[in-house]
This record gives sequence, C-alpha cells and structure tokens, in this order.
Amino acid sequence: MFISFEGIEGCGKTTQVELLAKYLSHRGLHYLVTREPGGTHLGKLIRQMLLDPAHTEMEPLTELFLYAADRAQHIAQVIRPALESQQWLICDRFADATTVYQGYGRNQDLAFIQQLNEMATQGIWPRLSLLLDCPVEVGLDRARQRIVQTSLEGREDRFEQQDLAFHQKVREGYLKIAAQNPNRFIILDATLDQQQLHQEIVALLEPYLEDME
Ligand code: TMP
Repeated sequence: MFISFEGIEGCGKTTQVELLAKYLSHRGLHYLVTREPGGTHLGKLIRQMLLDPAHTEMEPLTELFLYAADRAQHIAQVIRPALESQQWLICDRFADATTVYQGYGRNQDLAFIQQLNEMATQGIWPRLSLLLDCPVEVGLDRARQRIVQTSLEGREDRFEQQDLAFHQKVREGYLKIAAQNPNRFIILDATLDQQQLHQEIVALLEPYLEDME
C-alpha cells in the first residue's frame, strides 16, 4: 500500500504523516515513512540545494531536473524495495508536487513534466494521494508560526519566500489534478483540528488496513 500526502505549505501533512505512522505501528503493521525531496542520502544533498534561500540564481529548469533526480534515486533506493517487501509506504510529497509546484507554480510545460514524472517514477504511483487542502492564508500563517517557534525567522526556504500568488497557483493546481485523478486523490479539509483530521484519515484507510491484517 503506497500513500502520498500532498498540500500547500503549512497544510499539516507532516503532522498527519507522523500520526498515521504511530497508528500503523500501534496496529502492528510494517510501514516505512519517507519524503520527497530528501528520502535518500543523495536526496538530502539535493534537498539542501533546492531549498537553500541563498540559491536565488536557480533556473526553473534546474529546479525541475533536481526534483526529478531526487525522485529517480528515491524510487530505486527506497520506494521500489519497500513495495516489493509488502510494507505500507507513506510518502510526504511525491511526483504530483512537481506537476503543481514546477508546472502550475513555475509555469513549466505540463506535458514535459508528465513525461519526466513517468520516467523518474518508472510508472510507480501511489494507490492513494491525500490532498490536505486549506486556504493559502491559513497554510502560510501556520508555516510562519512554525518558523518563529523553531527560531528560523528570516531563514524561510526558497518556497516559503514565494508570494501569495505563487501559493495560490499551487493550491489551484492541486485541486485541478485531484479532480483529474478522482480514483487516486482524496481531498481533505486541512482546516480541521489535527486529531479530527487524523480520525478521518484512519476511517478512510480502514478497508485497506483490514485487507492487510
Ligand atoms: P516539504 O517542506 O513539504 O518537505 O517540501 C519541500 C518543498 O519542495 C516544498 O516547498 C514543496 C517543494 N517541492 C516542489 O517544488 N516540487 C516537488 O516535486 C516536491 C516533491 C516538493
């Protein structure tokens, strides 16, 4: 079972990934939590390159290829082996993020991104993609609070520094691809309280959980 979590900055997906992991562990299921970018050793280096706010000169095409490179390594080293060993695999962002951030956000060619994604993923896609949707103002406000709490003020990454219009394009992009892929995507209300949202996620995964036990 391969599940990805998607959403704009501050949508709460990382918290939901952690809550789900705890829940799976409690049920005695084998699972692996991973993320993009940065799910491998090389990926962590690529992640630093991608997010460092000092890299103001990065071209949109360079950014696109770095995400694809991170993904190719991740598929070979983590995702394919985990799926072959019948584990639950939970991925904090996957190839849809490239369609949305680099395609809708940075205006890179969508047909080309689709080809690149197919190549990098080798045709491996999640069974379910959970889109945690909330208004951009709500997400950015949460992301901002997290930055203040973790004393990273003034050190927002290259994406957190983008303006409201960019994040709005990202949100709309996510809603568009969710509508285009109704068999895979589930849209969830990310303005809900953390525990309430977690309960919703557990309830919708219940049929799959029963299958695996
Ligand atoms: P994270 O903070 O959710 O781990 O993601 C890091 C940033 O990378 C986030 O701002 C979204 C961005 N991103 C892309 O632009 N394209 C991608 O393909 C992925 C996976 C993430």
